[in-house]
Amino acid sequence: RIAGPCSMVIFGVTGDLARKKLMPAVYDLANRGLLPPGFALVGFARREWQNQDFAKIVHDSVRDHARTPFSEEVWNTLAEGFRFVQGSFDDDAAFDELSRTLTELDETRGTGGNHAFYLSIPPSAFPVVLEQLSRSGLAQSKDGNWRRVVIEKPFGHDLQSAKELNAVVNRVFPEDTVFRIDHYLGKETVQNILALRFANQLFDPIWNAHYVDHVQITMAEDIGLGGRAGYYDGIGAARDVIQNHLLQLLAITAMEEPVSFNPKELQSEKIKVLSATKLAEPLDRTSARGQYSAGWQGSQKVKGLKEEEGFDSESNTETYAAITLEVDTRRWGGVPFYLRTGKALGRRVTEIAMVFKRAPHLPFDATMTEELGQNALVIRVQPDEGVTMRFGSKVPGSSMQVRDVSMDFSYGQAFTESSPEAYERLILDVLLGEPSLFPVNAEVELSWKILDPILEFWASGGTAEPYEAGTWGPSSGDEMMHRTGREWRRP
Ligand code: BG6
Repeated sequence: RIAGPCSMVIFGVTGDLARKKLMPAVYDLANRGLLPPGFALVGFARREWQNQDFAKIVHDSVRDHARTPFSEEVWNTLAEGFRFVQGSFDDDAAFDELSRTLTELDETRGTGGNHAFYLSIPPSAFPVVLEQLSRSGLAQSKDGNWRRVVIEKPFGHDLQSAKELNAVVNRVFPEDTVFRIDHYLGKETVQNILALRFANQLFDPIWNAHYVDHVQITMAEDIGLGGRAGYYDGIGAARDVIQNHLLQLLAITAMEEPVSFNPKELQSEKIKVLSATKLAEPLDRTSARGQYSAGWQGSQKVKGLKEEEGFDSESNTETYAAITLEVDTRRWGGVPFYLRTGKALGRRVTEIAMVFKRAPHLPFDATMTEELGQNALVIRVQPDEGVTMRFGSKVPGSSMQVRDVSMDFSYGQAFTESSPEAYERLILDVLLGEPSLFPVNAEVELSWKILDPILEFWASGGTAEPYEAGTWGPSSGDEMMHRTGREWRRP
């Protein structure tokens, strides 16, 4: 579907996210023919830029980060709808100017009076910007036009602050006009979990505690935190990605079949399963946290967190976190969900592994099955997107030796269509007013409710265990698994 006429205003347009993701995504949408002629992109920032300077910045970001090839024709049409408004967030005159600019675009570009406001700014700046949008009348829709606001995490730093933040947002924008970005939901492989589970007959019968021994959700990153101290120090891995990306992956993996893919039905299933999810106890035995120290990644020497610019040499911020969750439903009773994430690990990989119970009986001589592990279904979110099934197979030869083999589905081989970048899909959905892939308030608050006890526990004492960069994290992460007789996968 093609978006209807509208303008999109980006606050924080000079930031990294705008440059690397938002502006390239807008161009890619235009290039794929998914934006209407009546579309405008408006940048708002303090820089003393003119429209041409802004256009140049967008051009550079498209050149460096767009997915689709550059087309002069697409660019020229799109760039006619670029405007830049200069000002600070507390500057009434700048917001009045923004209002005039949007009206001018309605008249000259045909943007139809519809506006999306993308707050690519720290949450501490939300109140002032929202207040300005309200004061200047920009937040109020008129004559059937729409107004939408897009916000980026962190949505608070615990349940209490998330509630306060939501209240601030909802005072100006009603909940059904708020689009909270969790870019993992924009990934093809994440949406494919829904297809895998609900379009097939094959998986559902075994997708439960009768067959599944445990679930491992891993989001490992090889990059460290150079340059991100301002955001990350004091936040840590659990708040940065478990609260949002990993709990969303858990929700989609564990939820019941929605009545339909209508956004309300989908959200209500996610809310139900998140309501039933809690940390396994005792917390000192079911969790682990670490902080990377200097090490090697391949042949490259990597600094430790405390040597990274901007990090305090006393910083106790965790760059690795592992937790154990229980999902108290009939489907999942007794099945642990292990979640882990880390920076500066051995490789970049995000996956969800359903690890199955062993067969109740093996009619083989014990020596024949020494190389047989547990069956597993692995959803490879990234990179190397696809699904792997692992099971035992007879080793060719005269004896009945059994060994693990894998069967792979890979996106690259199965499809010729290219995957849109997550932000492309999500921005298009904002412009279409399609909320399925955006977590609602209740999901955000439930995720904090799940995580708050471990955050409090960590804040109450102890330190993050150092781990060498380029490894798979601290030994406490492995011990957490060993206590229940299990092992992390080494993807
Ligand atoms: C962001 C986190 O939400 O996701 C970053 O703030 C992280 O710390 C990033 O690096 C990872 O995203 P992706 O799409 O590269 O897996």
